[in-house]
Amino acid sequence: MRTQVAIIGAGPAGLLLSRLLALQGVDSVVLENRSRVYVEARIRAGILEQHTVDTLTDAGLGDRLHREGLEHRGIYLQHPGTRHKLDFPELCGRTVWVYGQTEVTKDLIEAQLDGGPPLLFEVSDVTLEDVDSDSPRVRFTDADGVAQVLECDVIAGTDGFHGVSRPVVQAAGGRTWERTYPYAWLGILADAAPATDELIYAWHPEGFALYSMRSPTVSRLYLQVDPAEKIEDWSDDRIWDALDTRFALEGWSVNRGPVTDKSILPMRSFVSSPMRRGRLFLAGDAAHIVPPTGAKGLNLAVADVTLLARALVRLLTEKRTDLVDTYSDRALARVWRCTHFSWFMTSMLHTSGDDFDAHLQLSQLRRICSSEAAARELAENYTGLPVG
Ligand code: APR
Ligand code: PHB
Repeated sequence: MRTQVAIIGAGPAGLLLSRLLALQGVDSVVLENRSRVYVEARIRAGILEQHTVDTLTDAGLGDRLHREGLEHRGIYLQHPGTRHKLDFPELCGRTVWVYGQTEVTKDLIEAQLDGGPPLLFEVSDVTLEDVDSDSPRVRFTDADGVAQVLECDVIAGTDGFHGVSRPVVQAAGGRTWERTYPYAWLGILADAAPATDELIYAWHPEGFALYSMRSPTVSRLYLQVDPAEKIEDWSDDRIWDALDTRFALEGWSVNRGPVTDKSILPMRSFVSSPMRRGRLFLAGDAAHIVPPTGAKGLNLAVADVTLLARALVRLLTEKRTDLVDTYSDRALARVWRCTHFSWFMTSMLHTSGDDFDAHLQLSQLRRICSSEAAARELAENYTGLPVG
């Protein structure tokens, strides 16, 4: 087998990269070690920045997103007794969209299987070879158990945090940074109409809570919990009661409904540099993880592959190396901005039990709710800075 770009991993990063390359006449093969059913069932975050929506739309993937997605013009920031709306169009001229990453992935897979480049599920033993040469290759075992070799010009490592690509880059030198936060999120999906028009980010002495949604009839809600908590110890009633407490506001209440999914998610920041070794390029979760508080994970993956697609098209069709040579630095500049923003949102909203921290957090929240300059800084980052 031969292709121009071997793409490891069929998450949003790998699938979108394959699509963007195909639109520019560059071929690729996507190798995924899980099944289609598994990949399409993963529940992840649900906020798309303006840039992400524009990129998906321009790539011909916007039909269902524009039909079923919900455009959001702001968020609420809450602390006990106060719920304040940040109006994004007023502050920075941009909006965001609520559309689950699960749906983005389904749209990408459907487009890929409908005449797009090859996408192979359930491959195993993926090994990257000769990435320092101009003709690297990928060895793998296909779904039928047959050993295969994929010869290529470039490998894209879009295989997520637990993939095989990052270790190959790091083996040639580089470094990583990691911060594990002392809290986790307990997330639920519920068949209940959201009781709010915009997402609510709530600070509360008992811990942070987030009111999000997936559609006019499905709510997605999160509670800050200790990472050692067990999901079995959280009955639906206990979860709803905690949500009532943390979102409490006079004359308003959370809408309850059947809980259809329940899980606890760890929170960490992670950055790996460089994002390139020879002809191997990393993008998305393979190179970085952000805590979910700023909803940046998927958007950062889309920004990476936007830069990477342009750089690879230039390399493979014009034989010019300028954009691939600067890819890692340009991508990492945005990665660090989003890493900072996600850390900032996380630090401002999650309670540590320390009273000094609580006073600093409340002071920061009051500042954002009373100063247009402070609110604009949050709005610009939340809705997404331009991809350079
Ligand atoms: N071989 C082939 N595929 C692999 C391998 C491997 N050795 N290891 C992992 N994969 C696959 C995973 O099964 C997964 O489908 O790579 C894919 C990586 O996809 P994601 O984890 O979704 O990562 P990415 O595409 O970068 O998307 C980033 O996902 O986790 C969220 O917050 C994150 O929203 C962000 C987005
Ligand atoms: C979500 O809907 O899953 C979601 C929304 C906003 C966040 C994180 C997650 O900041």
